[in-house]
Amino acid sequence: MTHAMKRRALIKGLAAAVVAVPAAGITSSAHALSATPSAAASAATLAFDPDAYSEITTTISTDDGDKEVTYHFWSAITYVTDPVDETYQSLTVSVPVSIDGTAVDATDAPILVSNSIGGYLPSSVSTNTGVSSSRAKLAIAAGYVAVEPGARGRTLVDSDGDYYGTAPAAIVDLKAAIRYVRYNAGTIPGDTDRIVTAGTSAGGALSALLGASGGSSLYDDYLSELGAADADDVIYATGAWCPITDLENADGAYEWNWGTNETSGGSEVDQTESAELTALFETYQSSLGLTADDYGTITTDNFADYLLATYLEPAATSYLTDLSDSERTSYLSSNTFITWDGSSATFTWADYLDHVGTRTKSLPAFDAFDLSAGENNLFGLDTTEARHFTDYGLEHDTSGSGGTSLDSDIPAKLEMMNPMYFIGEGNDDRAKYWWIRTGTSDSDTALTVVGNLALSLENLGDTVDAAMYWDGAHGADEDPADFITWIGEVTGYTG
Ligand code: DHB
Repeated sequence: MTHAMKRRALIKGLAAAVVAVPAAGITSSAHALSATPSAAASAATLAFDPDAYSEITTTISTDDGDKEVTYHFWSAITYVTDPVDETYQSLTVSVPVSIDGTAVDATDAPILVSNSIGGYLPSSVSTNTGVSSSRAKLAIAAGYVAVEPGARGRTLVDSDGDYYGTAPAAIVDLKAAIRYVRYNAGTIPGDTDRIVTAGTSAGGALSALLGASGGSSLYDDYLSELGAADADDVIYATGAWCPITDLENADGAYEWNWGTNETSGGSEVDQTESAELTALFETYQSSLGLTADDYGTITTDNFADYLLATYLEPAATSYLTDLSDSERTSYLSSNTFITWDGSSATFTWADYLDHVGTRTKSLPAFDAFDLSAGENNLFGLDTTEARHFTDYGLEHDTSGSGGTSLDSDIPAKLEMMNPMYFIGEGNDDRAKYWWIRTGTSDSDTALTVVGNLALSLENLGDTVDAAMYWDGAHGADEDPADFITWIGEVTGYTG
């Protein structure tokens, strides 16, 4: 079975049979909370109620076949004492109690905090009636605890016209969710020292940011304002799929990567502007000072070779290896740019770019001149829906409302939204285990984003499992079972 076929089979198999069982009797048990006097009010509302679950039995399709999982489900719990919007600032908890008829005890299991955020949009679990995402389902089928948090997103606007989900709202909410879980250590099932985050795209960016910024005090004021729990937000391990991150450098990276690929309209973007943005990326890339074995410092001169050898050719090799002989012959005859020596694939960067074809985004990819990109909205403030967040975008503004310089709060917001900032300063409290994936046909951002994220963590000495899926589109996750296995490996949890 190819990865893609496995993925399709998995998705089909996830149509679950949910059997609702009446909620268990509510008995009060003593909660071992060590609240400080000033946090006493919070303690009353942020205490996890271990008895407030319903019991659900469902069938979850895994690589090892269907599993019948009985689990305890806590529906939407508000994770802060002073929520702005509970619809988003709540989380669910799913804890397996038996798998295929055998009792499991998840008391010391890793806790997967899996978000479903896309597009930096609002994400709610408030009406969920059971474990929701396929990643969380696989986690409970492996005996882990799954927490699914909602978070505010960029489009939320109140009756006064104030945008209340723009940066840094989503990361603040996710950190508040982590703090809630850790605050309830000993009462909430699972090992709060083994919290693993996961997410895809904007959710992958936020997962990476949770991992990189763990323990940072940069968000404290925002967290206190919400009445977040009095606990830290350090993450043990992080999974990030196609993270749309490093936003203030992503326009240049995009042009360096996809600058000569045609847009969906069949034309090239302005090549002068593309070259100007590429030049900005060259400077940024050199400033990172990242090094790789056999390459020395990774600059825009050797990045293509590095990406080919580290990610692209291995991805193609793995894809071709998994095909049947006839499928492989057929794939190679319609993709003659690939040289296959019987066990490995090689090709040039130019041919790879040609193979991907159309670029998903126009120029600039993120800080649009007319403020029309989702990321412009992400950096909105108060009643202003969308703002520039790069000098280049501002200088080329066509919206008429750009102003003459970036707003003074923008640099701090960019830091709070970018894992590269925390990795760059070597944040000691960051996650030390990383699972990073993207598809080779994903032109929602540059491949350098994943390349730099993974390499910067490797340069700090972290354990990084980074790979790309050959021909994978934006959002691809072709080895979900391997991620679940990896969680067991890095946490040392054997059940
Ligand atoms: C997502 C995709 C994008 O292209 C982007 O700019 C931001 C977010 C997403 O799928 O989450």
